[in-house]
Amino acid sequence: MQQSEFKKRRKQLLRHIGIGNIALLGSAQMQTRNRDVDFPFRQDSDFHYLTGFNEPDALAVFIPGREQGEYILFCREFDEKKALWEGAHAGLEGATKHYDADHAFPIDDLDDILPGLLEDKHRVFYPMGHDAELDHSLQNWIKHVRSLARTGVAAPSELVCLDRALHEMRLFKSAAELKLMRRAAEISAEGHIKAMQTAAAGMYEYQVEAELVYHFAKNGLRSVAYPSIVATGKNACTLHYTDNNCKLKNGDLLLIDAGAECDHYAADITRTFPVSGKFSEPQKLLYQLVLDAQYAAIAEVKPGATWIAPHDAAVAVLTAGLVELGLLKGRVKQLIKKEKYKAFYMHRTGHWLGMDVHDVGDYKINGEWRLLAPGMVLTVEPGLYIPADCKAVEPKWRGIGIRIEDDVLVTAEGNEVLTATVPKTVAEIEALMQVQ
Ligand code: GLY
Ligand code: MN
Ligand code: MN
Repeated sequence: MQQSEFKKRRKQLLRHIGIGNIALLGSAQMQTRNRDVDFPFRQDSDFHYLTGFNEPDALAVFIPGREQGEYILFCREFDEKKALWEGAHAGLEGATKHYDADHAFPIDDLDDILPGLLEDKHRVFYPMGHDAELDHSLQNWIKHVRSLARTGVAAPSELVCLDRALHEMRLFKSAAELKLMRRAAEISAEGHIKAMQTAAAGMYEYQVEAELVYHFAKNGLRSVAYPSIVATGKNACTLHYTDNNCKLKNGDLLLIDAGAECDHYAADITRTFPVSGKFSEPQKLLYQLVLDAQYAAIAEVKPGATWIAPHDAAVAVLTAGLVELGLLKGRVKQLIKKEKYKAFYMHRTGHWLGMDVHDVGDYKINGEWRLLAPGMVLTVEPGLYIPADCKAVEPKWRGIGIRIEDDVLVTAEGNEVLTATVPKTVAEIEALMQVQ
């Protein structure tokens, strides 16, 4: 991502903050995994969105109209020993030279410098409640500025949550963001195809997972956007199953929900297919029903449609189909009203997708479902999960779990499915799995 893109975003945010106010945003911190070992570092999405600065121990400050510069970055000073052990880091010079900060100060001097920046500012925008350390420090900095009241200095009088404006910006993806999302989608789609071609009875779920992750990493996408779900048989009925340690058997379905991350942007794909390469009759009937629901939901993704329209469409198709197949009894309208479908379909049909797999952005505005608009990206992921011990349905349906998930961009004309290359019709899947 080019620096000019981050600059454009900062400009937009500065306009929103307004003259006389200030915004603060902290980076992610290193997290210990176990003694002397850290988890791989992943920058906070908001912080990356505005700075592109990929280091912990940093704080960005935005002060609209400040003559000496509107963007200040507190970060680690360059340390030769650190560079030798841990590798490159920008240092103060790099922060201004390569990341366009107007000023850079050592993070260790934060408590000395920050109160001065808060003087005579009216509002402080910051991600309230997300970072306990920043919450705490801010109280102390404000307390310090207040203590200077008799010298004529005014302390901030309003704290404002930064999330609202920033997340509204993140909801609408730019061309540069879509490029990364398309790459994440493309490589993830290829990984799913490889998994379909590789999966066979006798393999373990983790071996299929390895195929996916191998493909992602080989193509430079070394992080998954979320832990991969590789769930065979009734494991697929556990929505967030990640044990991935069971053996694949002919006669079972395999549900894979996995996506790679490309330069901080996620893909989120689910496919469900038969281990043997051929659906049984009950599996095929339920699978076709989920697929029909997904098509109906995707058709509702267009500018001006409400956020909930795809979900409502999916629920209508699923409920009618469940009645037709005998898994639900009663009148479709009543069953929908009473949410009887929730026995087999207990989650929503999608979520925003972007830097975070469950991305930011409001779903309702003033209490009403918001309208879809070009540039938004969402998942469409209906499913059916028939518990293995569900006495209310015939035994042939029990323990079947199916989800089909694609990533969909709202366009001016309607929508574009970013993950369309992974087969999903019964015929396509069966054909792909026969070519070994
Ligand atoms: N992979 C998480 C989800 O589908 O929401
Ligand atoms: Mn999803
Ligand atoms: Mn998913």
